[in-house]
Formats: sequence, C-alpha cells, structure tokens
Amino acid sequence: MSRKPIIAGNWKMNLCRSEAKALFEGISSFLSNYTAPQLPTVVIAPVFTSLCQVHSIDCSCGCEGKKLSVAGQNCHWEKSGAFTGEISCEMLKDAGCDYVIIGHSERRQYFSETDEMINKKAKAILANGMIPIICCGESLEQREAGSTDAWVSSQIRAALDGLSSEEVAKSVIAYEPIWAIGTGKSCDADEANRVCKMIRNVVSECAGSSASDSIRILYGGSVKPSTIEEQMSKSDIDGALIGGASLKADSFNEIIEKTMKVCV
Ligand code: 13P
Repeated sequence: MSRKPIIAGNWKMNLCRSEAKALFEGISSFLSNYTAPQLPTVVIAPVFTSLCQVHSIDCSCGCEGKKLSVAGQNCHWEKSGAFTGEISCEMLKDAGCDYVIIGHSERRQYFSETDEMINKKAKAILANGMIPIICCGESLEQREAGSTDAWVSSQIRAALDGLSSEEVAKSVIAYEPIWAIGTGKSCDADEANRVCKMIRNVVSECAGSSASDSIRILYGGSVKPSTIEEQMSKSDIDGALIGGASLKADSFNEIIEKTMKVCV
C-alpha cells in the first residue's frame, strides 16, 4: 500500500499578515519548480486572520491535484451561533481550507479540549468535506511510567468513535509526543515508527484493515531538515507535522525536498 506523504506546517500563533504572505510566497515559489505528482501533499496552517492571505495552489490542468493545501488550526463543531471566539467548519471551508488540525496537545493543555470535543470536531470537519488532522501524544511522565501506548490508543479510539471506515481512511493522525514539541529533542525515529505502527493497529481494530492501510500517520515534534530523511524512511511514518521549522521558507522547503528524495 503506498500512501502519499504529507508535509504539514503548523504556524501556531505566529506571523502577522504581511509575514504570512511572505512565507507563503517563499513556499509557493519553491513548489513552482515541481508538478503536483512529484510533490508530497503540502499543507500549511496559518492563523485565522491570514487564511485569506494564503490559498491552495491548484494545478492549471486541474487533473494533477493540489500542490498546496491550507488548514485551520482549530474549529468548533456547531454550524454557527453564540460561541464567542470560535470558528465553524463552514467558515474554514469558505476561507479555502481542506484540512483542520484538531486535538493538538497545546489545545488539550491550555484550552481544556477533551477527547469528546475532538470527536465532535472530527465529525463536523468530515461533514463539511474537509480532512481532520487528529493529534495525539503522551507527556514525559506518561512515557516514563510506561503508559504511552495505552494513552495514545485511548486518544485514537475516542477521536474515531462513530466514524465510518471511509471517513477514517481519508483522515490523518499526527503522533506528537509532548516532550518532543518545541524542545529540539526529536523522538528516536525507530521509536516514533513503533508508536505509529501501534496507532495503525488501533485504527485497524476500530475501522478495519482497508482504513488502516490508507490512513496517513504523521510524526511531529522537533522535526528539522536534519531529521526528516530518517523519519520518512520508516515504514509507518507517512509524513510530518512541523512547528518551528515551518516558519522559515528555507527550512520548510528543505524538508519537502528531502521528503521527495526518500519517498515520492
Ligand atoms: P515543533 O516542530 O516546533 O516541535 O512543533 C511541533 C508541533 O507541535 C506541530 O504541531
């Protein structure tokens, strides 16, 4: 089963509109050197105020797919209404998003997002024709206590609850160990691959082997140009969700280029 790799940049709460536009231009001019089939799926997730500043890049003939897709960093599951500060899936779709990141550890930790909320978000994203990028991952304490697999698998089971096999197959999971995020200390590639494989087994139990063969599972946590080749060479790592190194066109483009060398 060959899965098209995904390189996704999570810009988090960074870059005002002019800075976002400059970074977008730096990435899109690099992508212009390639055709869509040569590239991995490239996704960028700017802040909401920059969503209309950046846009997906469709190939001119329309038959090759997109070279660049845009993602929201969060969403609400309701269509509209009295939810001050929130944004709906319909609004993200309207702003040009194809993907939405949900369940990031920063949202779980600082904004008290629960597994149940993440499941509602996943359903709303899929119902609006977009793809959820469902984040999961353990803390350092959980890793040291030996509870990584139990914790991560419970996050995945809860997020996928009630989704059809077809919906699971097109979804994306990002395994991001919390202790590796923003620390410069990436998880060992073999260990990251072991956890991604474990996640794929859980997906198979929840949604069947066809869905688990198709779903793309990313690794995130201090991914850099110097780490990507080894990570992408592993059997069950289908791409990367990148924070810091996605904020500079040079490093993000180098990650895309190295991914193409290993697996496109
Ligand atoms: P870093 O790449 O900065 O460690 O961030 C990872 C992340 O949280 C992506 O969602």
